[in-house]
Amino acid sequence: MPIAHKTPAMKKLFIKTYGCQMNVYDSARMADLLAPLGYAPADEADGADMVILNTCHIREKAAEKVYSELGKLKRLKEKKAREGSTMLIAVAGCVAQAEGEEIVARQSAVDIVVGPQSYHRLPELIARVTRGAGHALETDFPAEDKFDSLPEESAMQGPSAFLTVQEGCDKFCTFCVVPYTRGSEYSRGVLEIEAEARRLVAKGVREITLLGQNVNAYRGPGPDGETWSLARLLHRLAEIDGLDRLRYTTSHPRDMTDDLIAAHAELEKLMPYLHLPVQAGSDAVLAAMNRQHTAKDYLRLVERIRAANPDLALSSDFIVGFPGESDKDFEATLSLVREVGYAQAFSFKYSPRPGTPASTAKQLPDDVKNARLQELQALLTQQQSQFNAACEGRMMDVLFEKPGRKPGQAVGRSPFLQPVHVENAGHLIGEIREVRIAEVLPNSLKGVFARQMAAAL
Ligand code: SAH
Ligand code: SF4
Ligand code: F3S
Repeated sequence: MPIAHKTPAMKKLFIKTYGCQMNVYDSARMADLLAPLGYAPADEADGADMVILNTCHIREKAAEKVYSELGKLKRLKEKKAREGSTMLIAVAGCVAQAEGEEIVARQSAVDIVVGPQSYHRLPELIARVTRGAGHALETDFPAEDKFDSLPEESAMQGPSAFLTVQEGCDKFCTFCVVPYTRGSEYSRGVLEIEAEARRLVAKGVREITLLGQNVNAYRGPGPDGETWSLARLLHRLAEIDGLDRLRYTTSHPRDMTDDLIAAHAELEKLMPYLHLPVQAGSDAVLAAMNRQHTAKDYLRLVERIRAANPDLALSSDFIVGFPGESDKDFEATLSLVREVGYAQAFSFKYSPRPGTPASTAKQLPDDVKNARLQELQALLTQQQSQFNAACEGRMMDVLFEKPGRKPGQAVGRSPFLQPVHVENAGHLIGEIREVRIAEVLPNSLKGVFARQMAAAL
């Protein structure tokens, strides 16, 4: 009897991603992992056979969003059951790691809870649940097993891709859950990273952002048996033909080594943009946060980075209203911001996180936090506008990533990570072209091709 060629029935997989870029990377890898099981990506949870929430635990709001989303999913799961089929619900990511069993206790519709270092076990967990063994929970460390057992990446996500090179954190800032949810620092091997980068480039990727919770703490095994730094890894990746742009994020000021600073002068492919979170400008607050550097250390570091590349755009994260932050401390943050001049930044109200040292300290009133956040954000927004305004008239390379809203338009990124809209560029997705910045809009830039400008004259 001939054996029919069996293709698995298509099942719909919806993944919702919260939090940082590493979660974006992980979500893509989970999709890769489930593709051989017959799961194809879906755009919405309604009707999906499996829904994964890839969660973030960094602030209270981020974690709470997950539970409200789970309430909605429960109703969709019930609707599906009435139609005679099933929906599997999995919670992945940092909330899964931090809360484990509690998630199922709070929301019984959840079938699987899987931590960020264990999601390679998803196929096995799905099998366990579908065999009727109840809920499945997997929150083991460490990361090396995961990278060893992940399949090759399947889908091209666009010309700009993320590549995780480092995970975890040993810094233990007193406000932060990451060391608890992602475990201790782990760096992938150079050859493994290079192979992944080459596969991405073969699929049409032109820009790679190396990811790590502490990416510049990267210390990975090199092919020569030595431990390589991030700078050395960047030099190696810069040799890949067809890979035109490199970025890395997120960096800790303490790990900005001389060779990495020098790489910003040496490597043309390394984009002139650096996310270097400082969190606060007061030494007392920095010490209470266990950041292990002073404001002066940070300013000196910025000076050295700018000496290596004067045209580099800086971005940062800030926390306002950390326990014990006085008006004077907050003033020090504003003055640091004025001194540095950021192209972009993220700022947050301090949110006490269970299990972290700062969470048990006396909290500042919410109105104080709100007022400080507003004042800081006003200053940062003003700096961002200034930075963008200074780009008007400049020639910039743009990597076109996707179609724009208008027909024929395409949107890409400048070297400084600004979104740039260009007309008559729809055919250039995946390509880099030089444009002139003709106009600065509130959240993006408008570029024109040089020859169009000439024609318009
Ligand atoms: N690995 C990154 C941090 C990731 S979390 C780094 O070391 O920079 C991203 C940002 O969230 C942090 O930089 C910090 O500004 C903010 N954040 C972290 N914990 C927070 C908390 N408990 N309350 C408010 N903001 C927090
Ligand atoms: Fe969190 Fe600090 Fe580690 Fe960054 S360096 S992940 S803020 S503990
Ligand atoms: Fe959030 Fe975890 Fe990233 S807590 S910021 S998803 S490392």
